[in-house]
Amino acid sequence: MKVFVTQLIPEAGLEILRRAYPDFLINAEERVLTRHELLEKVGSAEALLALLTDKIDMEVLDAAGPQLKIVANMAVGFDNIDVKAATARGIMVTNTPGVLTDATAEHAWALLFAIARRVPESERYLRAGKFKSWGPLLFLGSDVSGRTLGIVGAGRIGSAMAMKSRGFNMRVLYAGHSPKPALESEIGARKVGLQELLRESDFVSLHVPLRPDTFHIINTDALRSMKRTAYLINTGRGPLVDEAALADALTNGVIAGAALDVFENEPAVHPALMKLENAVLTPHTASATITSRSKMAMMAAENLIAGLAGRKPQNLVNMEVWK
Ligand code: DGY
Repeated sequence: MKVFVTQLIPEAGLEILRRAYPDFLINAEERVLTRHELLEKVGSAEALLALLTDKIDMEVLDAAGPQLKIVANMAVGFDNIDVKAATARGIMVTNTPGVLTDATAEHAWALLFAIARRVPESERYLRAGKFKSWGPLLFLGSDVSGRTLGIVGAGRIGSAMAMKSRGFNMRVLYAGHSPKPALESEIGARKVGLQELLRESDFVSLHVPLRPDTFHIINTDALRSMKRTAYLINTGRGPLVDEAALADALTNGVIAGAALDVFENEPAVHPALMKLENAVLTPHTASATITSRSKMAMMAAENLIAGLAGRKPQNLVNMEVWK
């Protein structure tokens, strides 16, 4: 039974795999395999434990071979996997929902405060030895309390972000497919269309999955619909935002700022964004707490083991393959 793990993951997950498959194979380095290496290493695998940085498309599935039964992704998002192609081949795909909800929502809040109160920018100033005295005009930022928070996609993470606004007495708007009665009754959140959310919000936070209908959901028009004083937060997926349009909007004062954890062409970041002081940029670390990443690794390992043992994995994405 060949089980292949595409990159070093937290020990808690490896430990679970080791107990079931002592001879599992792993790329034990902290780096993404090149395409060539990935294609070579998946050969004759029955199970893959993959990361969001591995593009698992038809070519990879073919390179693995017809014995491949499961791709267990260590991420809640699975846009790196061609689920349709996997389903057509009867291959199970699993993800790791739930265990990174709070960590990701907390990071979205960290980004929100970082951009609103200009934390990285003022820290850079201080470290550069430029802090000579307290100043009444020094690094003026935006209030958070009492402002309007717009949640685009009130799933697990979007809802957690919304709920955490309670301490800041915010008005919360959300846009999405289904109503969220708990958000409405507990924090008075209101479901609105995307246009109204963009027009009314002081902070717009993105939490929709990446799909063809959400690609560039934030484009030039969307940015122009936002307030000039508003901020954009993205902890979802990079391609939700047209990065060139965003860089332009930030340069020309169309919106006040943006804080991004994800990028259109990771690990590359649009060069214009790199130069802007009104952009806060983190390297896709929203779920990066010790606990959350350990739980993600454990969940991926458990999904993989269940699938190989002929049991239905707890987090099966493509239910159609389960007969
Ligand atoms: C995910 O799980 O999809 C995040 O982007 C990484 O934790």
